[in-house]
Amino acid sequence: MLITAEELASIKRQAVAEYPNECCGVILVRGTERRHMPCRNVQDQMHARDPMTFPRTARNAYYMDPLDALRLNRLVDEGFAFAVIYHSHPNAGAYFSETDRAQALIKGELAYPGATYLVVSVVGREVRALAAYQWNADRRVFERADDGDLDAKEPSASRRLLAAAERRIPGGVNSPVRAFRSVGGEPRFVARAEGARLWDEDGRAYIDFVGSWGPLVLGHAPRAVVDAVTTAAQRGTSYGAPTAAEGELAARIAAAYPSMEMVRLVSSGTEAAMSAIRVARGATGRDLLVKFDGCYHGHADSLLVKAGSGGATFGIPDSRGVPPALAALTLTLPFNDVGAVRDLFAARGSDIAALIVEPVAGNMGVVPPAPNFLAALREITTQHGALLIFDEVITGFRVAYGGAQELYGVRPDLTCLGKIIGGGLPVGAYGGGRDVMDQVAPLGAVYQAGTLSGNPLAVAAGLATLKALEDRKAYARLDALGAQLQRGLRDAADKAGLPLTVNRVGSMLTGFFCAGPVRDYAEAKTADTARYARFYHGMLDRGVYLAPSQFEAAFVSLAHTDDDLEHAARAAANAIGAAV
Ligand SMILES: Cc1ncc(COP(=O)(O)O)c(C=O)c1O
Repeated sequence: MLITAEELASIKRQAVAEYPNECCGVILVRGTERRHMPCRNVQDQMHARDPMTFPRTARNAYYMDPLDALRLNRLVDEGFAFAVIYHSHPNAGAYFSETDRAQALIKGELAYPGATYLVVSVVGREVRALAAYQWNADRRVFERADDGDLDAKEPSASRRLLAAAERRIPGGVNSPVRAFRSVGGEPRFVARAEGARLWDEDGRAYIDFVGSWGPLVLGHAPRAVVDAVTTAAQRGTSYGAPTAAEGELAARIAAAYPSMEMVRLVSSGTEAAMSAIRVARGATGRDLLVKFDGCYHGHADSLLVKAGSGGATFGIPDSRGVPPALAALTLTLPFNDVGAVRDLFAARGSDIAALIVEPVAGNMGVVPPAPNFLAALREITTQHGALLIFDEVITGFRVAYGGAQELYGVRPDLTCLGKIIGGGLPVGAYGGGRDVMDQVAPLGAVYQAGTLSGNPLAVAAGLATLKALEDRKAYARLDALGAQLQRGLRDAADKAGLPLTVNRVGSMLTGFFCAGPVRDYAEAKTADTARYARFYHGMLDRGVYLAPSQFEAAFVSLAHTDDDLEHAARAAANAIGAAV
């Protein structure tokens, strides 16, 4: 037994009472005796007295009352040992963070050997998740130590599955944002999906506005895609040799994107962006890359780089493991800031291989390009002999059949696609003019390859999806549905008197909890993420599945009905009350 029912109930009460501050406490044992010692967080007082020594950041949210530390020491002197050390994560998931790890270890050794660490996720004065961790001295990691059953009154299949998954998969998920860390609680494990709905392992249904993060423009499991994949699978799942269908998909892409005279299929958006950059470097013989702060282009080393403050700056890696020397080749600028682009190219233009941009940003939440922003990028890159890369992994076949380049009338040198062109299976593509793409092996000296590139199932799913979109009528419907979702969010916020800025381009939108406008990442970051977390859970409780982060897009699909959108609007009107 890690913890008694009474102790658990008391910890939950404490976590809620101290919300939105972090709470902490200890269970000590001596033989069969147990003592529960809630501790006081005096960070607020310390910060008010001395903000330099006690800064108020996410990593410095806790400072224990020295009197409590003294009491704990006395109990240890009397022969008690630390059995459970708990703390809460307000508006964040129940996970063992790097900060938690740093605080649990002293010079790499466990400060309280044998202790179990309990983390409580609290959102909007509700305990959303609990998880226990123990130190594995051999592997030198904190491992999940419960089976998701700590809170026996609320057993859930998702909770059990997460606890099991965390033992074998980092964080229990295969892509970080799925872990709900920025909204708290714990991810729903999905059992199946159809149309606009998905069902979790506990049998709860949700109207889905994530759509697998963008690919599912037709909704889940559309008949045409399922049939195409089934038929393809019966002919073999992979050959490692060329097929007619790959040529057909490349031809369809080229027809819709005149800038892509030649196309190479890969297996993900990450690969597409990484490869396009290699081609740009190969074609220009230059090394520097320019990207915009808050734009995401997959997780290749050169692209995991954020802006420093103010103007152009040499890149700082966003992830450990990215060599600083490599990150230094990536320069970052604020989105929508033409002046900054001009200045940077004036200073470094002859060393810049390419500028890569999400023509409608989707990864800082949706941020449309300012009028003429994309045209200015075209003009400046041309002037300096650098290539312009549009990363249309999200926007391709989403904001228009011909993507953002059709919508805004700007022709890039290279384009990256993904998501929709795979119809929910793993695909990416990059392409451009013949002169540039001639650089790619086996024609040219830029190497790029893939065992499963152009996979027959993925290509079949992509072709079926593009066929369903090609008469372009779909886009008026997608736009109308997007507008309906936007109205629902707007009305809910207006009624509640909350600031909300809804940015939308067709069927992709984000409601930022701030007064706005939101034109770049700095402005996006003024959004109240704690409020989003509360709103998010309010929506989830009402059967509406949004992205578990303020800085993501919501997507509508052709499978959504007017009723679905009305349901979402009603849910928003009710959920927003809890978010205030
Ligand atoms: C604009 C953009 N580029 C690239 C990627 C990377 O694609 P993938 O996750 O398929 O590797 C993403 C993923 O969300 C994206 O949104």
